[in-house]
Amino acid sequence: MAQQAAGMSGFDFSNAMVVITGAGAGIGQGIAQAFHAAGGRVALGDLRKDAVERAAAGLGGERTFAGAVDVRDEKSVQAFFAAAERALGPVTIAVANAGIYPNCPVLDMTVEEWDRVMETNMRGVFLTCQAAARSMKTGARAGKIITISSGAYASGRVGASHYCASKAGVVMFTRVLAMELAEQRINVNCIAPGYIKVDTETLPPTSDFETALIQNTPWGRLGTPADIAPAALFLASAAADYVTGEVLSVNGGAFAGRMYLPLSTPKAR
Ligand SMILES: NC(=O)c1ccc[n+]([C@@H]2O[C@H](COP(=O)([O-])OP(=O)(O)OC[C@H]3O[C@@H](n4cnc5c(N)ncnc54)[C@H](O)[C@@H]3O)[C@@H](O)[C@H]2O)c1
Repeated sequence: MAQQAAGMSGFDFSNAMVVITGAGAGIGQGIAQAFHAAGGRVALGDLRKDAVERAAAGLGGERTFAGAVDVRDEKSVQAFFAAAERALGPVTIAVANAGIYPNCPVLDMTVEEWDRVMETNMRGVFLTCQAAARSMKTGARAGKIITISSGAYASGRVGASHYCASKAGVVMFTRVLAMELAEQRINVNCIAPGYIKVDTETLPPTSDFETALIQNTPWGRLGTPADIAPAALFLASAAADYVTGEVLSVNGGAFAGRMYLPLSTPKAR
């Protein structure tokens, strides 16, 4: 499906070296597939080495690099970028996608859980973007950086205080980085996906939760990684050269309003 999307997009990434974190599953894997299908060299990083190696093998192995990385750890991120660049050349596009989304009400939350979410979702985005931007700047290259936030940056959800706060942080980080890198002609943009159905190793969402989300999505279905990948291709393409510091929501219309409300008055005859 991602391949189809890339083919239909008309975007050509045959000169691109794309680094994607959290590429061993879900949205990151879908983005990696799409860039690869559009001709790019693709470096896939993930905490789970086996998962990311499987994902790279699924792309045929050519024009790919798979490496273990913990985005919370500065040395790990630097080592991953260095190895990826040795294998595939200097990075031109980076997608800071790795993130986690556990659920817990504030009053029950441990400091450890709060920190784990912040360290993965915020420090991880900072370190990934910093490594990519430093490489681009050192090589005097223009480039594209994409962060992955969530609709949760603007719309709160019970049990997700840490997640919502981290994703709002990603948006503001993206905007400031876009200003700081503009002179270098490095575009920095953010994708805010709505709820995306992925195979998850953690607790699967309840059907009540998913039904409620569908009811509030004008498109009437949950998203898939293949819905997100084309947005990444667009933001990484020359078509988006004058787009920076933006948030692109991809959510089937979920931010348009409250789908579940009935007519406010009876229909006039
Ligand atoms: N699925 C959704 O509904 C949804 C909606 C909005 C935003 N997002 C965001 O999209 C991104 C990807 O989500 P997903 O649903 O594909 O998740 P996922 O769990 O399917 O995949 C995330 C990948 O990130 C990896 N990862 C986790 N911690 C890491 C770390 N410290 N270092 C490196 N890799 C790490 C995991 O091993 C996993 O392979 C996340 O940032 C998430 O917050 C997801």
